[in-house]
Amino acid sequence: MTTDQQPRVQWLGRWGFVLAATGSAVGLGNIWKFPYITGEHGGGAFVLVYLACILAVGVPVMMTEIALGRRGRGSPVDAVRRVVMESGRSSAWSLLGWMAMLCGFMILSFYVVVAGWSVSYLWKLLTGSLAGSGVDDMVAIFVANNENPLNLGFWSTLVTLATMLIVGKGVQAGIERSVSWMMPGMVLMLLMLIGYGVFSGGFGEAWHFLFSFNAGSLSSDGMLVALGHAFFTLSLASGAILTYGSYLPARTSIARTTFSVAIADTLVALMAGLAIFPIIFANGMDPGEGPGLIFMSLPLAFQAMPMGTLFGILFFVMLSMAALTSSISMVEATVSWLCDNKGLSRRAAAWGTGIVLWSISTLAMLSFNLGADWTLAGRHVFDWLDYLTSRWMMPLGGLGMVLLAGFVLKSETFRSELGLAPRWHALWLFMVRYVSPLGILVIFVDALGIAHV
Ligand code: PFF
Ligand code: NA
Repeated sequence: MTTDQQPRVQWLGRWGFVLAATGSAVGLGNIWKFPYITGEHGGGAFVLVYLACILAVGVPVMMTEIALGRRGRGSPVDAVRRVVMESGRSSAWSLLGWMAMLCGFMILSFYVVVAGWSVSYLWKLLTGSLAGSGVDDMVAIFVANNENPLNLGFWSTLVTLATMLIVGKGVQAGIERSVSWMMPGMVLMLLMLIGYGVFSGGFGEAWHFLFSFNAGSLSSDGMLVALGHAFFTLSLASGAILTYGSYLPARTSIARTTFSVAIADTLVALMAGLAIFPIIFANGMDPGEGPGLIFMSLPLAFQAMPMGTLFGILFFVMLSMAALTSSISMVEATVSWLCDNKGLSRRAAAWGTGIVLWSISTLAMLSFNLGADWTLAGRHVFDWLDYLTSRWMMPLGGLGMVLLAGFVLKSETFRSELGLAPRWHALWLFMVRYVSPLGILVIFVDALGIAHV
């Protein structure tokens, strides 16, 4: 039974939702993942497809999710069920909510490992253990950091604990309070880092790599990666944005907040690319290095630069905070579902979720050491979690969401939630009915090799 009697909590401050949703969106996806997948898929053409996916799919899906959350005032499962029943449609659609919750959970299971890398590099810089290392040393240090399961497990456990501590305190006292100082802090650190980067030079090649769209043709696999990343980077189809939307006050404009979040997220990703690729090229490193890319390149650059250790520390503090403001959003859906349906307190729900999460993330963590051979079809646990969520679950969940909004629910639901002027509403409807679903389908069909675009 859900506790429908109690009105749902809402964000306390005017900026509560925007800070929390931007905190969710801006994370490891922007600074760790975007640069390395761009490197793996050849640069410019990939970036162009990615930007198109943000605009044609990401923005309409985000508006839909926030509206569903606010209308249904519940976790993804409960909110979707209420909204479809209000329109007299099948409650089977709440499967979309289940998939989203599962997806957020699976993402977090590998996300805490990467966030753990960030915190461990912060520690390395603070203790000076990177001083004097060259390119080869940096590679060796990254490998060594992963080799010992106790070491790696320690850092990811720390991130899990911090996440659950914040979420356990509740929406206002935990999530809203922490983002209200971490987000301004991150912006400040980012601005300082950009100012620092401008003086370190070496911009040209990176700019060319990111924005020259004739960089060869993009594979259909690359297109699927770009689509998946558009979902990942905006925290879509994983329960995060929908649940945050369920705390949104009735008056807030959904379109306006969606654009703020999407623009901030895109800017941070592009800036991260412009900060990281000059270093890669200047040191003759391989842009297709993979997940270890920023952890090998950046510390190298920092220690060769004046005041580098200081700015390196600043960078990893910022990255760790970016990760934490995202990780809390990934469990909020599950925690809110447990509280509403199982009568648990926030604290109990958070620690219960944390224990399950810790077990799965430990399996993901072991992919880098003891479990390096536990592979299936060439992927170990860490890769599977990433692959299944980004390439399949998020695009499929997003497809379900736009079809639900465009064809299944009563149009009045979105007319009143979105509150747009008629021609803007018509544009949104056109996007969710045709542009977003067709975009997702074309990329799927192409990637499955059924037909090629
Ligand atoms: N948007 C986050 C990032 O770019 O790092 C990742 C993320 C957060 C994905 C929350 C999914 C989610 F529910
Ligand atoms: Na992001």
